[in-house]
Amino acid sequence: MKILLINGPNLNMLGKRDKAIYGDKTLAEIESLVKKEGETLKVEVVTFQSNSEGTLIDFVQEHSKSADGIIINPGALTHYGFSLRDALADTKLPIIEVHLSNIYAREEWRAKSIIAPVAKAQISGLGWSGYLAAMQALVNRLRAPARAY
Ligand code: DQA
Repeated sequence: MKILLINGPNLNMLGKRDKAIYGDKTLAEIESLVKKEGETLKVEVVTFQSNSEGTLIDFVQEHSKSADGIIINPGALTHYGFSLRDALADTKLPIIEVHLSNIYAREEWRAKSIIAPVAKAQISGLGWSGYLAAMQALVNRLRAPARAY
């Protein structure tokens, strides 16, 4: 089983970016925690980050064919990235959307996700542990769809 872990714009700055909102772990640290969880669950995790929507779409198009599911934090593209949304929908893969912060408790414009309707679920506000929760839920769902809910 293979899961794509995708992070969008500005998430390469985790660890330096507003730590009160996003925590102090770097993206490399979070990716490594998710990969470790993947080892425990016997799942391959392929990580990718880009600040550019087109590059994210190229990655999704190329790698979704050989993947079983996607975990994505689209960064600010969550709120306006229609091309990324279309690319994700086209994969027909189960997707879990993750946000470090609670996007419903911040500025009004962050409370709308255009990605959520093409995702199976959204985790928002659990910090880095939200990525691990997403891994566990996605793998459970893929392995035992009838028992996952
Ligand atoms: C974010 C929330 C977005 O609104 C913001 O633009 C980000 C990070 C989060 O993880 O909380 O870049 O996706």
